[in-house]
This record gives sequence, structure tokens and C-alpha cells, in this order.
Amino acid sequence: MQLPDENIEYQFQRLLARPHDAWTPLAELQSQHFLHPEKLDAVKPWVTAVRGRVSADRELQNPPAKDLPLQPGFIDLPQRLLDGFRRKQDASDLGKIVRLANRLKENVDRVVVLGIGGSYLGARALFDGLCHTYHNEMPAKLRMGKPRVYFEGNAVDNDALQDLSELLENTCVDPDIPEERWGVVVISKSGGTLETAAAYRAMKAEAAKYYGPKSEMLKQVIVPITGPKGKLRDLCRAEGFTDDDMLTIPDDVGGRYSVFTPVGLFPAAVMGLDVRALLLGAATMTKRFLEEPFDRNPVLQYAAVNYLMTEEMKKTTRVLSVWSKKLEAVGWWYDQLVSESLGKHNRGATPLTVVQTRDLHSRGQQHQEGMRDKVIHNLVVRQMKHPPVQVGMADRNEDDLNQFSRKGYPDILDAAVKGTNEAYADAARPTADIVLPAVTEHTIGQLMQMLMLATVVEGRLMGTNPYGQPGVEAYKQNMLRNLKATPNLPKGEVRDAAKGM
Ligand code: PA5
Repeated sequence: MQLPDENIEYQFQRLLARPHDAWTPLAELQSQHFLHPEKLDAVKPWVTAVRGRVSADRELQNPPAKDLPLQPGFIDLPQRLLDGFRRKQDASDLGKIVRLANRLKENVDRVVVLGIGGSYLGARALFDGLCHTYHNEMPAKLRMGKPRVYFEGNAVDNDALQDLSELLENTCVDPDIPEERWGVVVISKSGGTLETAAAYRAMKAEAAKYYGPKSEMLKQVIVPITGPKGKLRDLCRAEGFTDDDMLTIPDDVGGRYSVFTPVGLFPAAVMGLDVRALLLGAATMTKRFLEEPFDRNPVLQYAAVNYLMTEEMKKTTRVLSVWSKKLEAVGWWYDQLVSESLGKHNRGATPLTVVQTRDLHSRGQQHQEGMRDKVIHNLVVRQMKHPPVQVGMADRNEDDLNQFSRKGYPDILDAAVKGTNEAYADAARPTADIVLPAVTEHTIGQLMQMLMLATVVEGRLMGTNPYGQPGVEAYKQNMLRNLKATPNLPKGEVRDAAKGM
């Protein structure tokens, strides 16, 4: 089915307070909890000026120390990668990503992607959003050369990692058979993240056991993605990887802004996604951000609305209400983007992803009648990929569904979205919509770039540096200290976790 591939839209009119002819309790509540258009009008010049600052940051060669870290590289990168590819094809950065991805795809049927935070969530969002829902369960023929993909190194879960090893050991027995070969993509910008490093060591040991410790195959099936310097690069070099075998994350792109670097693009290419369409979507959004006036600029509008709702209206819980199960991981990715970029100096909205209608049956009650600390953004998809599942006629009608026999799933979904928005409006609960014409690489590229740009603008409006995540360091240092203080047990003995340290 041909999917519409237009621009995504941000529709926020519903959360604006409207003048009412007469006083009613609802009019009063809406006036208290919806955004007054004058407030939005008042910030337009400021938001537009902030756009100027964000844009100027791209040119700064030596930013003053007070502005560090400054990592605006993600803004222009999509267009730069596309331009480079047009000029130099295989010899370009994008060409290298695609070449190494094709090599891995040809070599293996399963790929384990290791990484955490910004080195995990973008690729996960692309996998869940754009690959077949049951991709890993599909037979090789139906996957058409695209390997199964597993994510690890994104927690410290002994049993999950052991389960993955067990799966690989049981399904991959003969490394000479391509369908039984597996590979590893290890992603860490700093190269020093313990979760990723420990998982890499474990998976590498598995791989060495499977292919042979000196097998040349190891360099074909392991792809390191890391910053220009760091422990992971040093380790890989020491193991014989050349810079040609590795992909580099640019210094001027921060972890959670790195989905359109090799961090997201390489796994996407391995999954068989159209990476150029992703980049085109992102580049289109950057252009809209830089060139369009406020009234046609979804980035500026989204940043302004969220800034006002959080800072002035005290709607400190920002709900992303996702109306497609496949986009839940886009929500997880956005949770991290907001939390690490804006959650500083005792400020910043608390993001929360919900999937509808699933969570109407869990959080819906609270969103309808609980604390008035929320603004709800629906993420809605206009056109589905597959033909509608019809309700249909049945001989037995005890479920009373024959009245809807000519309706399909999209009709039910549409009724649910409208019904939920009406219910929230009737309770003066502010909601707005981000509308995707369809879920494609091009629209997801637009969406992710829009949310990254808007987060940077919102940070600047708040006076908060949206780059860097100094607060994450505390746990990391404590974890290392605790680990160093833990006595080594004699070989073969297992610690009883229940007894603590
Ligand atoms: O946004 C960020 O920078 C972080 O979330 C990092 O992506 C995360 O901590 C992983 O870091 P690294 O890629 O260095 O292993």
C-alpha cells in the first residue's frame, strides 16, 4: 500500500483557552488550565530570537566556557551526510555506514546491538517503529536478508544476558552456515560506559568461543561504533580493528541527539531501513525550523507551548500519548531526551510515555480525574500500513458487534482518539496532537529531529543548557567505587545477592 509521505503537523489549538459567552464551571476550569493565546503571542518574538541563538551556536568555533558543553552538530548533520553521499557515494561517511551494514547483513542472521541511553534508545525506536512487529520471529526468507536484532548492554541484567547467550548457543551451532552466524554492534560514544563495556566483554567471549579466538571472522561480525577517542577505540585497535572497521560518532553530537549518526543509522541500515529517507525527513525538519516563521514552524510552536505549560501553567508532567503500539519506543527515546536535557537545577518537566488505548485502562483514570499537573500530547498516525481489519458480521451476535460490521480498526481507533480528547476537554485537561501522515522513515526522521530541536529551544528558553548530563555521573562513580570495594570471591564461588555485599 502506498503511504502518504507528507510533512508531519503539530496541532495545538485545542489546548488554547477560548472566550466563553457565559460563565460556567467548565469555562472557569478551562480558563485556569488551558493556555491563553495572549501568553503564546507574547513569547513568539522571544522564541524566534532563541532560534537565532541556536542557529548561531552552529557556527561558534570557540564557545565561552560558561556555554559548555555545546553540541549542536546534530542540527546540520542529516543534510551534510546526504550531501556527502551525493558527492562521494561509497567514500562518504554515509557510504561507509551502508557498506559496513551490508557486509554485516551478508555475514550474519542475528545481530546483538549493545549500548545504553543515547547509544540505545534511538536504534530501538527505529526498530520497533519501522520494522515488522514480529521481525525476529519471521523466517529468513520473509525477512529478505535482514538479520534478527536483539538489544543488550542497556541494563545490568544477569539473567537477560544469559538468556540471550543461551538463545544464540541453541540456535547457532555451525558457524559455517550463514543462517547460524551472529554478530555484535557495540555502541558507546565515551567508550567507558560500564554497562556496555561489560556486555561487550561477555558477547565477545561468546563470539570467540563460537568462531574461534583467532578467527578472521570476528572482525567481520563485530562492528564498534564509538567517539574519536576513548577506551573502546583503544581496545578495538589493540584487538586489530582498523579505523576502517569502526564507525565514528562526531564529537559535536551528544548521546541523546545522536540517532542520525552511526549510532542510529548503522543499526537502521542493518535492519534494512531506508536511511536516506530518514535523513531527508530530519533535514526537512531542520530547514523548517531555521526558515519558517513561528506560525508555520512546528519546532518553535512545540517548544513554546511546552515551555509555557511547564513553567507558567505548572503542568510539570508531560505525557506523550502514543496511539500506535509501534511508537512506544519513540516515547522512551523522548523520555530520555527531555529528562537528560531539561531535568537540571531542580527544574524540567517529567516526561511520561503511554500507549493507547492500552493505558486508558491503567493510567486513564488518573489523567481524567487525577492531579492537574499534566499536558497530554497525542502522537497520532493518519494512515495505517496494512488494509483495515474489519469487524465483520457473525452468526452469533451476543457481543453486539454486528452493528459495526462495516467498520474497521482505524474507525475504532479514530472514535477512541476523538472520544478521549472530548473527555479531556470536558474536564479541562489540556491536550494537543502531533500528527504523522503515516509511519515511514521520512516521517520518523522529521519527528525525531523536531523533538530534538524543540528540546534544545526549550532548554534555551529555560536558561538551561540542554546538552550534557552532569547528574548522571554521580551514580556511575558510586557504582565503580562499590564495585572496586567488593571483594573478589574464590574462583567458582557465586555471590549470594540476597545477603548483599
Ligand atoms: O545522552 C547521553 O549522552 C547519554 O545518555 C549517553 O548516551 C549514555 O550515557 C551512553 O553513553 P556512551 O555512549 O558514552 O556509552
